[in-house]
Amino acid sequence: MLQAVFTIKNLKNYILMNASLNLSKKILKNKYKPLFQFFIDGIKDLYWAEKAIETLLKKNKSLAYTEELSDAIENHEKQTQKHVLRLEKIFHALNIKPEAKKCEAMAGIIKEDEEVVSNTPENSMTRDAVLIISAQKIEHYEIASYGGLLQIALTFNMNHIADLLEKTLLEEEETDLLLSDIAESHINLEAAEEEDDEESENSDSRENKKNKSAGKKD
Ligand SMILES: [Fe+2]
Repeated sequence: MLQAVFTIKNLKNYILMNASLNLSKKILKNKYKPLFQFFIDGIKDLYWAEKAIETLLKKNKSLAYTEELSDAIENHEKQTQKHVLRLEKIFHALNIKPEAKKCEAMAGIIKEDEEVVSNTPENSMTRDAVLIISAQKIEHYEIASYGGLLQIALTFNMNHIADLLEKTLLEEEETDLLLSDIAESHINLEAAEEEDDEESENSDSRENKKNKSAGKKD
């Protein structure tokens, strides 16, 4: 029995060693190809993006009005930490030190997110609706990046790396659907009923002035 366990363990180690040897050969063969260089840059870009998203989500979960959205953002934050670790596994498999390369697109999306969210009233459904759309813009960039890099990994027959990318891709797609569900189930409808307090006060006082000058009662 002990011998059988030992043999299975040995077999597993042998398969893993073989897989990593095969991957090393593929990397050596492809590392100077422009598409392979693009792939490495894409992983570095995502590594920067995921870390920046993690920081943003930490902040956004406290800005959400409903507990439902705050919980969803917190779950996404935990998922994002896993995504960072998966990218580190990919760097390891590629025999490269983890390195973040600034993702200009994500930096722009995050900047826009911070601007539009700060323009919404605190503790409002409008803020939640805007937080959801901003989060979905992030998701869609990630889905495009992970999906594209997954296809390149498959093209270079780097199946282990492709599996890691696919796991994250599926989680990003699930999060995107969950955010749509939250928005469509009630947040958008309730946000559509909200008034801008300042604007409605101004419009009331404009109306009053008009009525007074026209000799009407308030
Ligand atoms: Fe992610």
